[in-house]
Amino acid sequence: MDPSPLPDPHVQLRGVRLAFGRRRVFDGLDCDFERGSICVLLGGSGSGKSTLLRLVGGLLAPDAGRIAVAGQEVVGSSWRELREIRNKLGMMFQGGALLDSLSVYQNLALPLRERLRMREPEIAARIQLQLAAVGLEGTESLLPRQLSGGMIKRAALARALISEPEILLCDEPFSGLDPLTVHRIEALLLEVNESLGMTLVLSSHHIPSTLRMADRLLLLMDGGAVAGTPQELLHHGDARIREFLDEDAAPAGAHASRRSHS
Ligand SMILES: Nc1ncnc2c1ncn2[C@@H]1O[C@H](COP(=O)(O)OP(=O)(O)OP(=O)(O)O)[C@@H](O)[C@H]1O
Ligand SMILES: [Mg+2]
Repeated sequence: MDPSPLPDPHVQLRGVRLAFGRRRVFDGLDCDFERGSICVLLGGSGSGKSTLLRLVGGLLAPDAGRIAVAGQEVVGSSWRELREIRNKLGMMFQGGALLDSLSVYQNLALPLRERLRMREPEIAARIQLQLAAVGLEGTESLLPRQLSGGMIKRAALARALISEPEILLCDEPFSGLDPLTVHRIEALLLEVNESLGMTLVLSSHHIPSTLRMADRLLLLMDGGAVAGTPQELLHHGDARIREFLDEDAAPAGAHASRRSHS
């Protein structure tokens, strides 16, 4: 658990408990995600990363505990309050979750029409820019089933980012992408964090990009979660934590050091 509260939490979980039958996933989880920061959720398969993102997005209710997003309580919120909260969130989940019957263009247009009530010429321009940003120029008219796995992932990320949400929840943005595309998506995420101050909460199994990007890590393990900066966890007293991060032994990169000098 992370007992030390951060100065300006954008997302806050307190005493969160959740079990699926006899599988206890969270047993009193406390954690904060700082406004404007990049936090990466780590942990073995089945440790609860996707579940944590779904809880924050209000797609799943905990058995007990509090979850606040931008100061608004998610648990027990009305349908209307939840919609307000969701308008602050961009969400990209495993599997992409694009609407199958709609083209890439129509999938991306939805949040702009519904949330931002933008006009069609502006929508078209925004979609063109967003698709270029994820390297999917020219795919506007394709249906999700006509895209490769990595393309679906990038289209889903484009949809999550297109309304420029305050907070991006992103489940494994790098899995299934080739190394060049990993770098491109990494650069895009850093850019929206820097230029828009977007809070990023990502889950990842990709240790090198995690160490390059993250301001803070939350490592989910049996028996609880450990939070800290990449440097803190790389030098943690618990060997299991060091080993988890040492898998690729990449040095904490430019992003972390740039922040420590700012
Ligand atoms: N809807 C559900 N019903 C029952 N059990 C579930 C459900 N969703 C998740 N679980 C269980 O909760 C645990 C956490 O699952 P979760 O998908 O959050 O793991 P994860 O850390 O995202 O794993 P991965 O790295 O493989 O994506 C697992 O034991 C999983 O079986
Ligand atoms: Mg998962």
